[in-house]
Amino acid sequence: MPETTDTNPTSDTGGDPNHATPLRLLQLTDTHLYANPNGRLLGQNTRRTFEMVLALARKRFWPPDVILLTGDLAHDALPDAYQYLRGKLNELGVPYFSVPGNHDLPHLVSSTLNTGTMDTAVSRQQKGWNLVLIDSTMPTGEGGHLSPSRLEGLEHALNAHPDLHTLIGLHHQPVPVGSQWIDSMVLDNADELFAITNRHPQVRGLLWGHIHQAFSARRGELILLGSPSTCIQFLPGSKQFALDPLPPGFRWLELFPGGRIKTGIERLAAYPDPLKFTDSGY
Ligand SMILES: [Fe+2]
Repeated sequence: MPETTDTNPTSDTGGDPNHATPLRLLQLTDTHLYANPNGRLLGQNTRRTFEMVLALARKRFWPPDVILLTGDLAHDALPDAYQYLRGKLNELGVPYFSVPGNHDLPHLVSSTLNTGTMDTAVSRQQKGWNLVLIDSTMPTGEGGHLSPSRLEGLEHALNAHPDLHTLIGLHHQPVPVGSQWIDSMVLDNADELFAITNRHPQVRGLLWGHIHQAFSARRGELILLGSPSTCIQFLPGSKQFALDPLPPGFRWLELFPGGRIKTGIERLAAYPDPLKFTDSGY
């Protein structure tokens, strides 16, 4: 699968809002950080791979206007892991925006990274776009669900800015990605999410983490995007848990004032340490 997507690649230039200055987003996801600086996940020191991916972003896509963090920020959900992440993010001088994943403690994400309450949707408007983030985690279990208050919050955020192109970010995939084990943890009420996006045609894209692999599809006018983790990658199409030897990376997005989305993936050249292949999960 090509790792660059452009929703409107052939538009002409010359005053075309699809070629004017875009809003530049850097997505960093599934960092799986540990409180212990030496913490490793299947052979990888996740602080090290995170810092390497960040260094790559600083070479290839800098500066972004916003950094989006789409969950599983800490593997052990301990305060020191979030404190470390906050320290690294604050050094960058770029606004950041996050949602928790199923490995996180949402109240620690909220308090440490200053996300605001996640009982509803959180949105910000910039350069003609509305960025809306919703927490898709459940108090127990690994799968995804959008509670009534979050769905209401999303609808409210969309009603408030019908004239702004919109990108929605969350942790869980709202559509199956073709891997049975990870699709057992899909967003279980995606029909309610899509009922809302159907009512609000300004929504241009959905962006998530969780699947630790690049994914791109369309649903009508909507672009659906999943992204690699900054640490381990999951093998696409695998029925059971399996690692992909592809190295860690990030997704970049350019959101143009005319509604066009250009996006791609950048990856490290290699893992810093040998990957511990296993079929028994992580
Ligand atoms: Fe994850």
